[in-house]
Amino acid sequence: MESSASCPAAAAPLERPFRVLVGVTGSVAALKLPLLVSRLLDIPGLEVAVVTTERAKHFYSPQDIPVTLYSDADEWEMWKCRSDPVLHIDLRRWADLMLVAPLDANTLGKVASGICDNLLTCVIRAWDCRKPLLFCPAMNTAMWEHPITAQQVGLLRAFGYMEIPCVAKKLVCGDEGGHLASLTAQGRKRAQLCGHTSVCWDLGQTHSLSSAFSSGKWKS
Ligand SMILES: Cc1cc2nc3c(=O)[nH]c(=O)nc-3n(C[C@H](O)[C@H](O)[C@H](O)COP(=O)(O)O)c2cc1C
Repeated sequence: MESSASCPAAAAPLERPFRVLVGVTGSVAALKLPLLVSRLLDIPGLEVAVVTTERAKHFYSPQDIPVTLYSDADEWEMWKCRSDPVLHIDLRRWADLMLVAPLDANTLGKVASGICDNLLTCVIRAWDCRKPLLFCPAMNTAMWEHPITAQQVGLLRAFGYMEIPCVAKKLVCGDEGGHLASLTAQGRKRAQLCGHTSVCWDLGQTHSLSSAFSSGKWKS
């Protein structure tokens, strides 16, 4: 995986695809990963790769993900000697934007406290904060309402990451609860992804998103 020389925020419009790295964690909302990837691939000019936790693998089939899918084994199999690439560093260089969807309570806690014990959390720990990082929390109401959740989400916001708020819906366990923002609900949120350009984070409304990508006006 080649590395990008500079942050697109500082550069002229990109002449290569805009690279989105999707991080997926072990929430039941990871069921939506194939749909999320497919919607992203509908946007012209995007290149997409996925980093998964081991638990997230429980919720989707790799054959339903038509892009490169990285997990912990790739990190360790890739590195045998000093000249070998370190995958989490290559991925943080490669990506122009990271979208962690869904972000479960466990990985939220790890990211908030700086723990990096798998490929996904290593990419996030090494993330270049001049590039956008978006996160979509997804968890049961009981977890969401625990006071530590607000503290941890607040820390991520303070790092400069952008929260895509969850929506309340019926969960597989039968409770009402905070859940991964639905793809259409994401569309209603106007995400302030650049200092001077706001785009609609709507995987269905591809126009504003793709024109923001191609404008190269991305910054934290
Ligand atoms: C069926 C099932 C559904 C789950 N859904 C969620 C969820 O929506 N949100 C969450 O925070 N944890 C959820 N969990 C718990 C996580 O999978 C668990 O905390 C796991 O250790 C997360 O690992 P990861 O963060 O490395 O992916 C669920 C567990 C199971 C068995």
